[in-house]
Amino acid sequence: MTESPDVVLVVDFGAQYAQLIARRVREARVYSEIVRHDTPVGELLARRPKGIILSGGPKSVYAEWAPKVDPAVYAAGVPILGICYGAQLLTQQLGGTVTRTGRGEYGRTSLTRTGPSPLFADYPAAGPVDVWMSHGDSITAVPAGFQASASTPEAPVAVLGDVERRIFGVQFHPEVVHTDLGQEVLERFLFDVCGTRPLWTHTNIIESSVKEVCAQVGGDRVLCALSGGVDSAVAAALVHRAIGDQLTCVFVDTGLMRAGEAEQVEETFRRQFHFDLIHVKAADRFFGVLDGVTEPEAKRKAIGETFIRVFEEVAADVEDARFLVQGTLYPDIIESGTKDAATIKSHHNVGGLPDDMAFDLVEPLRLLFKDEVRAVGEELGLPEEIVWRQPFPGPGLAVRIIGEVTPERAEILRAADAIVVEEVRRAGLYRALWQSFAVLPAVRTVGVMGDARTYAYPIVIRAVTSDDAMTADWARLPYDLLERLSSRIINEVDGVNRVALDVTSKPPGTIEWE
Ligand code: XMP
Repeated sequence: MTESPDVVLVVDFGAQYAQLIARRVREARVYSEIVRHDTPVGELLARRPKGIILSGGPKSVYAEWAPKVDPAVYAAGVPILGICYGAQLLTQQLGGTVTRTGRGEYGRTSLTRTGPSPLFADYPAAGPVDVWMSHGDSITAVPAGFQASASTPEAPVAVLGDVERRIFGVQFHPEVVHTDLGQEVLERFLFDVCGTRPLWTHTNIIESSVKEVCAQVGGDRVLCALSGGVDSAVAAALVHRAIGDQLTCVFVDTGLMRAGEAEQVEETFRRQFHFDLIHVKAADRFFGVLDGVTEPEAKRKAIGETFIRVFEEVAADVEDARFLVQGTLYPDIIESGTKDAATIKSHHNVGGLPDDMAFDLVEPLRLLFKDEVRAVGEELGLPEEIVWRQPFPGPGLAVRIIGEVTPERAEILRAADAIVVEEVRRAGLYRALWQSFAVLPAVRTVGVMGDARTYAYPIVIRAVTSDDAMTADWARLPYDLLERLSSRIINEVDGVNRVALDVTSKPPGTIEWE
C-alpha cells in the first residue's frame, strides 16, 4: 500500500493565481488543495497541512475589501509562503510595513539578492535572476524576526523570511513560466522548508481513486455516459479499474460525432478494456428532432433533451443502477465553492445530465486538474487519440452546422473536419491548439471546377489557442498547412467548393459559431 500524500493548502485571494499555484505544487508531486481565505484556522489545521501558501490576488492590502486570513495561522507552527499579495499581507499582519509607493512593477524585472534564503538554493552562485512581478504597493520594512533577502528596482524587499518560524514571502510570482527558476523556488519551500514528500504520483492518484470508488459504491451497479471525450473516458476507466463489471457504460451516437469517434469508443472500451458497453445508435432520432430547427439555442435544447430521454430509457433497462459517473474536474469544484453561488453553473451538470436524476454521483476526477486527468488516462492505457482529443461541444457538430442540420450536411462537415484534424496532426500542431475544426455555413457560393460552374458550400477553418476557453486567439496556421487544407477539402469533400479561414479572437467572437 502506498503512503497518503502530504497536503499543502493554497489560500485563495484570487482564483486564477491560486489555481496556477496549486497546479505547480502538484507538478512537484505534492498534493495541494485550494481553500477560501475565510476558512477558520481550526478547519485549515484540521487538514494537517505540511505547508500553507498565501496566493496573490487583489492589488492592495489597503483596499477596503482586502481579503485577509486569520492571523492565528502564523502561530500554528506550519510553514507559510506568501506570494505577491500573500507576502504583503503577512508582512502587514505580522507588523512590517507595506507602502503605497505609487511605483508598481508589472512584467519581467531583475531580482538582486541582498541576503541568504533557503528559497535560493537552486539559484546561480551570483548575479540577478529574472522574475515576473505584478504589484502596485511595496514591502518597505520587514516584521520583527524577518530578514530581507532580495530586492528589485521598485521593490526594496522582494523576498523576506523568518527561518526560525518558517514563514517566507516573495513579491514575485514563482508560479508563472516567465519567472526564471520559479518552480525551483516553490520546490525549495515544499521540500526543504516544509519537508513534504513527492508522493502525489499518477500511480498514487489511481490507487486512492480506486479505493475511494470501491468504498463509495460497494456492490452496487454504476452507470456512465461515455462521450468519447477525455473526461468521461478517464472517469469511466478509473471506475472500471475499481469495480470492473459493476460498471455499465452508455455511448449515445447522436449522428453528430466527429469522424471515427464511435469506432474509437467501441475499439477502446469494448474490445481493449472489455467494458459492459451499451452503444445506442440514435442518429435518426436526433436528426428527427432537429428537422427544420435553425436557431442555435433551440438546437442545443432539442439535442440536450433528446440525449437525456435516450439515456433515461437505456438506464431504466439496467437493473439496480444506483450510481452515475460524472467527469467533474477540480476547477469546476473550485468554481462552485469559491464564487457566488448565484453566478455559477452547478458542477453536477457537467455531463449534460440533469441534477434530479435518481442517482448518487461518483466523481473520480473531482480533485484533478485537466493535465492530471490526461496523465492518469495515459497511465491507465487509454489511447493517445482519446487522451489528447481536443474539446468538443456537447451538441456536437450541430453547433458547427449553421442553419439546418441534416444527415447530408452533417456528412459534409464530418468529412471536412476529419481532414482538418488529420492535417493539423500531421503538421504537429494538434496538441498546441486548443481547438481546430471545420464549420459549415448556411450559404452557397459560385465556383468553377473542371470546366463546370459549381454552386456549393464553403467550409470555414476555425483554429484557436487558449488556456481555458474563456478567451482565445485565432491560431496563425502556416500557409502550407492552409494550402493543403484548402486543396484537400475541395477535392475530397463533395458539396464544397471554397475554403475560408476564421480570424476572430474571443472576445469578440466565441470559439464555436453557434
Ligand atoms: P464558446 O463557443 O462559448 O465555447 O467560445 C467555449 C468552449 O466550450 C465548448 N462548448 C460547449 N461544450 N456544451 C459543451 O459541453 C456546449 O453546449 C458547448 N458550447 C461550446 C466549446 O467547444 C469551447 O471549447
